[in-house]
Amino acid sequence: MFLLIISASFYVTETRLTGFVRDYLYEQRIRQDSLSVEKLSTTVAPLFEFGQADALDEALVTASGEMSGRLMLLDLDGKVQFDSFASLMGVRLQLPEVVSVLLGGEATSFGIHRLDTAAASAGDGDSRVAYCAVRLVGSRGDLGVLLFASSVSEMLDSLNRVEQQVVLVFVLVALLAVGLTALFSRFLTRPINELTTTIQKMGQGDLTVRANVHGNDELRTLAENYNVMAEQLESLDRSRNQFVSNASHELRTPLTTMKILLENVLYQPDMPRDMRDEFLGDMNHEIDRLSNVVKDLLTLTQMDGGKMEVHREWMSFSQTVRETLHLLTPQAEKRHQDLRGRIAPDVMLFADSSKLGQIVYNLTENALKYTPEGGRILVTLQTRGRSAVLTVQDNGIGIPQEDLGHIFDRFYRVDKARSRETGGTGLGLSIVRQMVALHGGEISVESTPGAGSTFTVKIPLEEREARA
Ligand SMILES: Nc1ncnc2c1ncn2[C@@H]1O[C@H](COP(=O)(O)OP(=O)(O)O)[C@@H](O)[C@H]1O
Ligand SMILES: [Mg+2]
Repeated sequence: MFLLIISASFYVTETRLTGFVRDYLYEQRIRQDSLSVEKLSTTVAPLFEFGQADALDEALVTASGEMSGRLMLLDLDGKVQFDSFASLMGVRLQLPEVVSVLLGGEATSFGIHRLDTAAASAGDGDSRVAYCAVRLVGSRGDLGVLLFASSVSEMLDSLNRVEQQVVLVFVLVALLAVGLTALFSRFLTRPINELTTTIQKMGQGDLTVRANVHGNDELRTLAENYNVMAEQLESLDRSRNQFVSNASHELRTPLTTMKILLENVLYQPDMPRDMRDEFLGDMNHEIDRLSNVVKDLLTLTQMDGGKMEVHREWMSFSQTVRETLHLLTPQAEKRHQDLRGRIAPDVMLFADSSKLGQIVYNLTENALKYTPEGGRILVTLQTRGRSAVLTVQDNGIGIPQEDLGHIFDRFYRVDKARSRETGGTGLGLSIVRQMVALHGGEISVESTPGAGSTFTVKIPLEEREARA
């Protein structure tokens, strides 16, 4: 591309330049020839008019020697009356310059011709010849034409020299351009090639490769952004692996327990009946756990894949909260806990009521689970500004500061043993968080270990307008 641009500009420059030089030389030549031939014509006109043949001869021969060209004198018919080369005597010359002086009324005419079309050469071996025709005026009118034929080889030579110089410069510049371009493009493509190699490696599954960041330009930005992307991919990959291994572990634990229980029953046929019932009851409990984990996992993967269907409708959030608390009351009573609701009437939302129910259920169930017997759990619902605000407050065991940032992560549990014991999967809060996000809301938590926790969920009331 560079070469093309350079070639084009050189071509234009070259033709313009040689055109200028040619015009200049041509003009010089016309002025110079016309001047000397006109001067000569005033000298030879009287000699010709009064038939002083010898003097005329001498004057013309001397002049042609001085001017280094061929001088001819033509009469009014265009017939050669004198020729310093003496070969065209008596011949009629039909040169355009002669014609334009004799018939066209011009005083001086100048032209350059190829020799094959011209009739009179100016020397040996010239392919071109310049003619300068000047009217010969006597005392009683026109006498004829003084014609000067001269070589233009010198002029053409200078022109050629200029052209050669230009071509030489062009070749040099073109070579330089090609060299520089090659160098520059290597310099330019090297980082791109590096990046390509890196991306290929990544495509083959190696997520640890990173691009070399150097330079100070767009490629640097590209490499940096690529690395950021690679970083995210790698962490995504890591968390996915983590999720799979956590999930497997979570499924394995109840299976292992069940196998032990089952083997006990199987290999002790004469086990007392009440003991056997206890084993079977434990197994039943494990199966519940297992099916809980599977249910939660399904919910989560559905939400991950964006396949979770959200059935929005105008619903009373107050109603949903009341119903959920009612559902959990037996559980609270069993542990002598004081589960109370302070619910503003008619908090209406355009939302999925079963998902909001699950949010309330998971948070309240946690509050019950992580609060000792006889504790207090308060669930409130109110509208604050343009949001419905749900809080679930307990005076239970609380959450240590360092765990607060993680409790919404999948499978994260502060106290693994305790959570299992209570049938938890560690997925409840991450499901809650996703469902809140699905409704455009946000969730926060405040907790003091030993004193209790408060979960706050805010869901915008204009959910419908915002989505519409
Ligand atoms: N109200 C609460 N009080 C104290 N700890 C809580 C409370 N709610 C959640 N947690 C902590 O957060 C963890 C994650 O909760 P969750 O995702 O619901 O899992 P799970 O209840 O199955 O253990 C729990 O294991 C528990 O350690
Ligand atoms: Mg839970």
